[in-house]
Amino acid sequence: MAQQRGNPFKPTAGMNPPELIGRDEILNDFRDALENGPGAPDRLMRISGVRGVGKTVLLNALGDIAREYGFQVVDVAANKGFCDRILKALTRRPALNALSVAPSIMGVGLGSIELSKHEADLGEAMLTASQKGGLLITLDEIQDAPIDELRGLGNEIQLLIRQEANVAFAFAGLPTAVDDAIGADTLTFLQRAKHVELSKLPDFAVGESIEDTMRRTGKAIDGSVAALLTDAAAGYPFMVQLVGYYTWQASERRGGESVTAEDARTGIERARANFDSMVIAPILRRLPQRQVEYLLAMAQCDDDPISTGEVSRRMGLSTKDTSSYRKRLIDAAIIERVGYGTVDFAVPYMREYLLAHADDFA
Ligand SMILES: Nc1ncnc2c1ncn2[C@@H]1O[C@H](COP(=O)(O)OP(=O)(O)OP(=O)(O)O)[C@@H](O)[C@H]1O
Ligand SMILES: [Mg+2]
Repeated sequence: MAQQRGNPFKPTAGMNPPELIGRDEILNDFRDALENGPGAPDRLMRISGVRGVGKTVLLNALGDIAREYGFQVVDVAANKGFCDRILKALTRRPALNALSVAPSIMGVGLGSIELSKHEADLGEAMLTASQKGGLLITLDEIQDAPIDELRGLGNEIQLLIRQEANVAFAFAGLPTAVDDAIGADTLTFLQRAKHVELSKLPDFAVGESIEDTMRRTGKAIDGSVAALLTDAAAGYPFMVQLVGYYTWQASERRGGESVTAEDARTGIERARANFDSMVIAPILRRLPQRQVEYLLAMAQCDDDPISTGEVSRRMGLSTKDTSSYRKRLIDAAIIERVGYGTVDFAVPYMREYLLAHADDFA
């Protein structure tokens, strides 16, 4: 096998990793859905998960499969104007009525007529593409989607499905945002979509993949070093790439033909610093103060798993008072329920971060 040059790990949002770990079942189901033709359930997929869990690269992988089947693939981010961008990608010409998708037009007056005209154009373009070998649309970051555009796309999707068009759609976004969006009763197409919730990767798969990836670049690694890296990655896809990247680099700087425990320690330390600033800090920044306080109280609890009663006591509130914060955090996949009346952090290193920065949050 030809040896790869350069660092194989890709700790960058949206960049395909050297190996897509733990997603075989999802990809196989999608493949089956394409094989089985219009109407197969996995042709409409809603992917949710916290930052860095691998939503975008999963969309990339779905796109690769769809291309194998001769589908045209359109990838768009769901911020304002996405319907227009899909139309442009399909027709390779700017839409005449691009202005009609301004968010101020919430389906009233003249605006709604323009909007439905625009939707019809979009629907027609999608139908045409589906007839030329199939069409997959991936919509990423759906937490940013203007609700009227999402509804517009949804109407057209429903029409295409009724027409048994050869289409597939995959949506991805942060968990709460996705739930909020489908909570809006007009978005039934999202409620019907198969829900894929991305969470931790199994350690054995992470360890195996790290070993393979190191070896493919000519670096020997023994099981105990791989175990150190696997532990540090904590099943979190972005952390797998960070740990791999900085450890590989540490070995490379020594001109090393192997990865030592010392390389791993250096790599893990640098990975942790990056993970804090690129994942944990942004998650906390998005949260309302009370939810951050809830997390802080969790971090300060000594019991494992953490008792929700103890968290509430620390906040000086009743369990009932804190239940809405807890629910929001669980919905956002930041914490998880582990048993009756107990919770734990779902994002690695969040507890350590909160304790180290407690003063900033108080
Ligand atoms: N299954 C996987 N196996 C290995 N690495 C992965 C996997 N999924 C994602 N990664 C890596 O994790 C990082 C984050 O992936 P990605 O950008 O897809 O996450 P995301 O969920 O879209 O994050 P965000 O919410 O910030 O957009 C990338 O460096 C990517 O290469
Ligand atoms: Mg992403």
